Amino acid sequence: MYQYHCLNPISNIGLSRFTENYQKTEEIKNADGVLVRSAAMHDIELPENLLAVARAGAGVNNIPLDKCAEHGIVVFNTPGANANGVKELVIAGMLLASRDIVGGIEWVKANKDVETIAKDAEKEKKNFAGTEIAGKKLGIIGVGAIGVKVANTAVNLGMEVYGYDPYLSVDVALSLSREVKHVVNIDEIYANCDFITIHVPLMDSTKGMINAEAIGKMKDGVIVLNFARDLLVAENDMLAALDSGKVRKYVSDFANPTTAGHNGCIVIPHLGASTEESEDNCAVMAVDELKDYLENGNIRNSVNYPACDMGTCGNMGRIAILHKNIANMITQFTAAFGEAGINISDMTNKSRGEYAYTLMDIEQTADNKIIERLKGIPGVFRVRVVK
Ligand code: MLT
Repeated sequence: MYQYHCLNPISNIGLSRFTENYQKTEEIKNADGVLVRSAAMHDIELPENLLAVARAGAGVNNIPLDKCAEHGIVVFNTPGANANGVKELVIAGMLLASRDIVGGIEWVKANKDVETIAKDAEKEKKNFAGTEIAGKKLGIIGVGAIGVKVANTAVNLGMEVYGYDPYLSVDVALSLSREVKHVVNIDEIYANCDFITIHVPLMDSTKGMINAEAIGKMKDGVIVLNFARDLLVAENDMLAALDSGKVRKYVSDFANPTTAGHNGCIVIPHLGASTEESEDNCAVMAVDELKDYLENGNIRNSVNYPACDMGTCGNMGRIAILHKNIANMITQFTAAFGEAGINISDMTNKSRGEYAYTLMDIEQTADNKIIERLKGIPGVFRVRVVK
């Protein structure tokens, strides 16, 4: 019986995929797996038994990835599962920035009791007028699961789309409209685009990437959209650019005291993935990833350990070893089984940066002595008898 704990509410469509072999626990300390959305995990003490964390969403800045890796905890996310929800809000963001739709609606609300509202509206509307998005140039920084959907939709809306992504995957490239101009220098986006939208993960290398220097390279009157993470933008630089008129609007899905209420900022309370469909899709994907890891040791869409798939766990034993990516590990693992006379029938070893994962099918049950021996090898974080 596996136990799972939800740090945030998770859609029932996802949770219903847990079979009778799973039990929900209200205590994280009892959990084999944790499901999380935005709860901050950096200060949570990681329970000894915890095997995996599945983030129902894409961003993982609320999870201490290295700390988890060093405790032998695999962290998963659900790339693409909420991409359509985010894409739709990015398109809405472009429209909200192009005409003062929000200002117009507020004017109507403020004048709801005025008898002459219909006539007055015709006079007032010039204050809320703007431009169209068709024919404008849209620059997409980060053409991943969300970026590709934004790109293709924008093409269909008549925009000229530029995409920048040094890590463009083959899958994305195959689904990207041929009308999208793929640029290899981000400055081309800055120099040409009327709208710029960011879709990269928040990492040390991307933090504050949209700063005064980057903004300085942009066209006057540019509209910047941020549905990725607020810390990607040096927001004080952005406010200065809004005040000077360099940037026309900054649309952000991240409410914070810096941008909330500032002139030119359109701030949304993190609604990108807040649709029934996205929440269901993320929950289904997160639960499936968690189950496959707990039951079979397979890793799909992890953000701290490499992908690994040895299929369904058969009748024989399966051992998972989470360890440092250093020399001489496999020799020591195989020696432990070899010296005990146990045949390894299948094995995969994969690495990702500093961390590695070895999954082995063995032809008889490994006794405690072997497991303890494996655990004692320097650089091993966790040894798990999957079966
Ligand atoms: C994501 O990271 O997937 C989105 O920002 C939505 C969310 O945080 O749930």
